[in-house]
Amino acid sequence: MPLMNSHEVILVQMVLFPLLTYLPTSATRSLLSNSFPCPQAFFIFGDSITDTGNIQLLAPGLAATTLNYPYGESYTFTNERGHNRYSDGRLIVDFIAQAFGFPFFEPILLELEKGFKTDYTHGVDFAYSGAVVLPNSTVTPIHLQVELDQFFVYKKALLSSPQPSTPLSFLPTAAYLIPEIGINDFTNAYVEGASPQTVIDEILPKSLNVVVSVVKQLHASGARTIIVGNQPPQGCSSSILTAFLGTGPYDTIGCLDKYNKVNKVFNKKLKQALTKLQESYKTDGTLIIQFDFYNALTELYTNPAQYGFNPSTKLEACCGFGGPYNYNRNVTCGDSGNVSLSTGGTQFVNISTAPNPKEHIEWDGIHFTQAAYKIIASFFLSGHFFISPLGFNFKHLCNLDFSQF
Ligand SMILES: *[C@@H]1O[C@H](CO)[C@@H](O)[C@H](O)[C@H]1NC(C)=O
Ligand SMILES: *[C@@H]1O[C@H](CO)[C@@H](O)[C@H](O)[C@H]1NC(C)=O
Ligand SMILES: *[C@@H]1O[C@H](CO)[C@@H](O)[C@H](O)[C@H]1NC(C)=O
Ligand SMILES: *[C@@H]1O[C@H](CO)[C@@H](O)[C@H](O)[C@H]1NC(C)=O
Repeated sequence: MPLMNSHEVILVQMVLFPLLTYLPTSATRSLLSNSFPCPQAFFIFGDSITDTGNIQLLAPGLAATTLNYPYGESYTFTNERGHNRYSDGRLIVDFIAQAFGFPFFEPILLELEKGFKTDYTHGVDFAYSGAVVLPNSTVTPIHLQVELDQFFVYKKALLSSPQPSTPLSFLPTAAYLIPEIGINDFTNAYVEGASPQTVIDEILPKSLNVVVSVVKQLHASGARTIIVGNQPPQGCSSSILTAFLGTGPYDTIGCLDKYNKVNKVFNKKLKQALTKLQESYKTDGTLIIQFDFYNALTELYTNPAQYGFNPSTKLEACCGFGGPYNYNRNVTCGDSGNVSLSTGGTQFVNISTAPNPKEHIEWDGIHFTQAAYKIIASFFLSGHFFISPLGFNFKHLCNLDFSQF
């Protein structure tokens, strides 16, 4: 399902492009330091895995972006605009905010609307649900460079506006977080009929170049702590398992090998590229932190009971309808409509409840539950599944508080 039709794409361009007429400022270099400081702010990029409300502010009410109940059923956000997230509750970045004792990261569009009057001093979220990496998508105008350009505009506005009440001291010790990105490019290609091998050959190398370019641009603008997560195993996603039902081989978990392979190839090349970049930045105190999102999730799928998940539904969407994976792309979480039954005929379904989200890893066929995000965030904050640097651990570096988890 396309995220936006052409009408909305034009709307998006009207909203976004006035912002982009500024050029990035000359770099404001952070103080070089060999000892790594605990981050005082996070600037977050990416897609729906980390979007705390940008797409809802940009294009409210779009069918594909309507977050009807039971979205948000597991957590009540008391900040302005409430939930606006593709999950039953908090995302990984929300748990990060809570552990660091920061307010939830506000979406950049709220900052712009409010004229920087919300609490942004601990970071801002530039992620948009549906965002892709390559600039030529017919599905969405938001790609990674657009998010980065918004960051540059934002930074310039902050640096040039005299706001004594808003200290800028956070900039040198900010962390820049690019979690998994690029899976929407792959999914959109699959929807258009591309095979996994075509994606590996034609889309993957270009996507990788963009991610590397974005890391370089962040570095050039003064970023010295850059966190990059790799891609999740898409062959384990209920929507992919449903769309390509019966097109094995399946792995021992029950995931589709050839779709996972695409993410594995991407992740391997990403690791090589980032390791090379880290090497070239080693004299200026830059830290590129690589988090292994793929294997963190694989751990949940492999040992579900150990983390409180029901093993018999580990690959099923919590919020969905029908089929072996509780997913039907015609009527998805929070939506209603007629579905065709395998026995013939149609049935009206209204997916307005989703019981036991705590027992599920997968939320709506595409995204994950708060329970899964909580464990991934705990891994991330406690030094598990880091590819590089080995032994890196925020819990040792920072004074974290897990009491709200
Ligand atoms: C975007 O570019 C990729 C890589 O060149 C290509 O495979 C894909 O078909 C393009 N997509 C669109 C929508 O033009
Ligand atoms: C979705 O709707 C289309 C068009 O009505 C129909 O052809 C298709 O079988 C439906 N798919 C499912 C999985 O129900
Ligand atoms: C579902 O099917 C019923 C009976 O055919 C029809 O009256 C109704 O309009 C359909 N609803 C939707 C949302 O398509
Ligand atoms: C679906 O169920 C919810 C909750 O019961 C209800 O508010 C909503 O009106 C229903 N939608 C339809 C189309 O029946």
